[in-house]
Parts: sequence; C-alpha cells; structure tokens
Amino acid sequence: MDASRPRLVGIMSGKGGVGKSVMAYNLACVLADRRYRVLLVDCDFGSGNLHILANRHCYYGIQEFAENKLSLREAVTGLTDNLDLLAAIPSRVSLFTYDIRGCVDMVHRLREQGQHYDLILLDHGSGRSDAATAMAHASDTTVLVVVPELLSISDAYGLYRYLHDTDDKIDCRLLLNRLKSRDEGQYVFEKFRAMSDRFVGSSPRSLGYVREDEVVSHSVATQRPLHEINDKSPVLQALKIASSGLTTGLAPSGDRLMVGNREVNRTPAAADIRE
Ligand SMILES: Nc1ncnc2c1ncn2[C@@H]1O[C@H](COP(=O)(O)OP(=O)(O)OP(=O)(O)O)[C@@H](O)[C@H]1O
Ligand SMILES: [Mg+2]
Repeated sequence: MDASRPRLVGIMSGKGGVGKSVMAYNLACVLADRRYRVLLVDCDFGSGNLHILANRHCYYGIQEFAENKLSLREAVTGLTDNLDLLAAIPSRVSLFTYDIRGCVDMVHRLREQGQHYDLILLDHGSGRSDAATAMAHASDTTVLVVVPELLSISDAYGLYRYLHDTDDKIDCRLLLNRLKSRDEGQYVFEKFRAMSDRFVGSSPRSLGYVREDEVVSHSVATQRPLHEINDKSPVLQALKIASSGLTTGLAPSGDRLMVGNREVNRTPAAADIRE
C-alpha cells in the first residue's frame, strides 16, 4: 500500500448483519478524531443507513454523485470537522444506476474528486455482488467483517476466495467482531488463515478483535458514536488499534496540528501556541 491520498478502504462481509456499518461509522469517527480527513461512503445502495447512525438529514448523496448531477463536494454532508458522509437514502437511490461499470467509474471519480481526504471508507452491502467486487478491486484495502459463527466464517471465506481469485493482489484484512474474548478471535483468525493458506494459497491479515458489547447497541439506539457513549470501551480501543492498521505510512492532514507537545487548532482565533 503506498502513501498516496486518498486511501480507499472497503468494508465488506459474506453474511449480512455482522456489524459492517457500525464498524465503518465508528472507524471513520476514530480516524477523524486522529486528525485524518475522512469521507464515509454508503455503498449499500438499497438499504443505506449510515445517515441514520449519524443522525443526519442529508439533502443529497450518492445518487446525485453517481449520476454526475453534483460534484463530490456538493453531494457530501459534513458530520464533524474532519468527517463527511456521502449518504445513500434508500427512497432516493435508483438501483439501475449501479451496474459494474457505473460503480467502477464512481470509485475513480471518488479518487479524483476526493484528493482532499486522507481516507475514503466504503461501507458495502453484504455478500458477493459483482458491483461490490469491482469496487473492492478498485480500492486499496478491503476489510472483511466476520463474527464467530460458522455461517459468517464460511461466507467470509467464500468472499475472500472469490476476491482473491478475481485479483490475487487484493489487500484483505479480517476484522473479527462480536467476540466473547480475544482468544475466541484468535482461534477464528487462525482457522481462517490455515484454511485460506491451504486452499487459496494466501490469507488475509488481521485488522483486529472487537468484543460483543452493549455499548454498540446503545450507540445505535441513541444515534451517537461510540466515543460519546463511553470513550474507554474495549470496542473503541479495538477500533483505535484497527485504525492504526489502516493508516500505516499515512500522515494525518486534518484541521488540528501539534506544536511541541501541545495540540492547537489551525483556526487563528482558537490557536494558542505559547509554551
Ligand atoms: N461488537 C458488537 N457488540 C454488540 N452489538 C453489535 C456489535 N457489532 C454490531 N452489533 C449489532 O449488530 C447490528 C447490526 O449491525 P450493522 O447494521 O452494522 O451490520 P451490517 O453488517 O452493516 O448489516 P447489513 O449487512 O444489513 O448492512 C447493530 O444493530 C449492532 O447493534
Ligand atoms: Mg450495513
């Protein structure tokens, strides 16, 4: 992975409902908090829900961008200083727009028009669609979210195998979610790795181990990011570690900078660089 901007990271899973959207949203919040400029893109065209997690009314979104009616800057909704959302409002999204060619074209335009972002996170729908596969191949890294259940593991393995068969240079990472313990995550990861090495000839790296925790359902129910509910929760700590795995070699270009050991705002009115 090189250090060019923006870095495109897709979040996928074989099985539905494993936590892709909550992980994508909170990873984006963690990265923005670390001063990365982040765009979160809802690529679950038929069932987009990131605007609900973020509790935002979005006037425009991916439909207008995909149809070239609006530029990226016009189509996004600002969530925080360093975080924007390109929303998919199901009632406004026409699935006919999203054939394979249209999706790949959209990813290329995200790269071109999104150069002011450090990272662009794409939250996909579940399963092995041709459009999502093509978008994964046009991205830099693909995160596969897996929960410790047989069907999730087997679907994730099938998806990994398919992604690898269609492009053996794909950079895939496993994010184990809803774990009872770290040991359980390591066990699943090692099984996955052994199976992939044997039958695919390569295996994904681990991005991290996220526990099952009611802080997540509380965060969803109250439409607030995890750090606002509990900034010390093990889930958030795991996502901070995962965020480091996605930013290797990439310096943040967000709105605050360090002077000596002190953090200051770039905006002159709030800046205080006296030691
Ligand atoms: N670590 C966790 N601990 C507890 N609950 C979790 C955790 N991760 C996810 N969940 C719960 O799982 C539910 C489904 O999550 P989410 O909608 O993000 O899944 P998804 O993979 O995006 O689903 P879809 O395939 O439909 O897009 C959420 O409502 C959330 O409460
Ligand atoms: Mg989702």
